[in-house]
Amino acid sequence: MKQFVAEASFGAMPNNLRVTETLNPQHSSSGFLTDVMKGLAATPKQLPPKHFYDRHGSELFDAICRLPEYYPTRTEMGLLHAHAADIARLAGPAAHVIEFGSGATIKVQILLNALDMPASYVGVDISRDYLIQAAQALAYEYPHMPVVAVCADFTRKFRMPTLPGRGPRLGFFPGSTIGNLLPEEAGQFLRHAAEVLGRGGAMVVGVDLQKDPEILNAAYNDAQGITAAFNLNLLRRINAELGGTFDLRQFAHDAFCNHAAGRIEMHLRSLVDQEVRVRERAFAFKAGETIHTENSHKYTVAQFQELAREAGFRPLRAWVDTEHLFSVHYLTVPR
Ligand code: AVJ
Repeated sequence: MKQFVAEASFGAMPNNLRVTETLNPQHSSSGFLTDVMKGLAATPKQLPPKHFYDRHGSELFDAICRLPEYYPTRTEMGLLHAHAADIARLAGPAAHVIEFGSGATIKVQILLNALDMPASYVGVDISRDYLIQAAQALAYEYPHMPVVAVCADFTRKFRMPTLPGRGPRLGFFPGSTIGNLLPEEAGQFLRHAAEVLGRGGAMVVGVDLQKDPEILNAAYNDAQGITAAFNLNLLRRINAELGGTFDLRQFAHDAFCNHAAGRIEMHLRSLVDQEVRVRERAFAFKAGETIHTENSHKYTVAQFQELAREAGFRPLRAWVDTEHLFSVHYLTVPR
């Protein structure tokens, strides 16, 4: 199984880096097989978006972030740069930074550089190899700061490592990853995060805003077809890891606004009547039938603040760019 490379292939581990596992490396990350069997048997067919992020998928996602049509990444980076000093002042000295779904660590470096002597960095991610590599690079970049890589699915309860020092905890959840969750699940996640952060803790969350559907449609249907490749990679991954028989030419990327639900949906649409097998099990597709692969919920500032409040946070600040594309929220856990 090539997804779980032996520790040795990461090279020397810097001595300020610690890796903890919640995922069982013997199994495909966090129930991939189970989710595929269940999702393809369901009506309508669906697969959880967390499985996009194998190594190739993570690289495709990084390419999406650089697309001209995909405004969230650069807009959020701009907001973080503009308000890093505010965030640092609010967070205070010696904060432990805990990033949920860390992926590439460019964004958190904006925070780490602004914060007054951050006590440690904890990155929690499901994409194990990618996480360890990123944490390793970060540990070299900040040799005096303890770095912990927690290989876990942050949408479930995971074991937090004990942290050195008693500074406040500052959660970081950028990129509007929270949009992947249904509003109710987002509320549950925030409640869990508030627990992990503890009283006096705080959280910086990046949330994509409701906007003109034309801008949204362009962002999820890019001209170069990178988003399509990212979506279809899920089928390639099922073939590679679970012995699936998907013919990628018989499926098409489909992304559209669901206005009533306030979200963009991504699907994989079967172009023909066909049967696909995964581990000896057959799944029938009608022409036009889809696998629902992702929801990307968009919120107004007020909507998200209400969600955060219901989860036990106090919304303290919300920063928005001049074009009203994206928001960065600073939430606190009341003492
Ligand atoms: C990482 C979930 C925030 O919803 O915009 C990008 C994923 N999907 N293009 C998003 C994604 C298609 C992204 N999130």
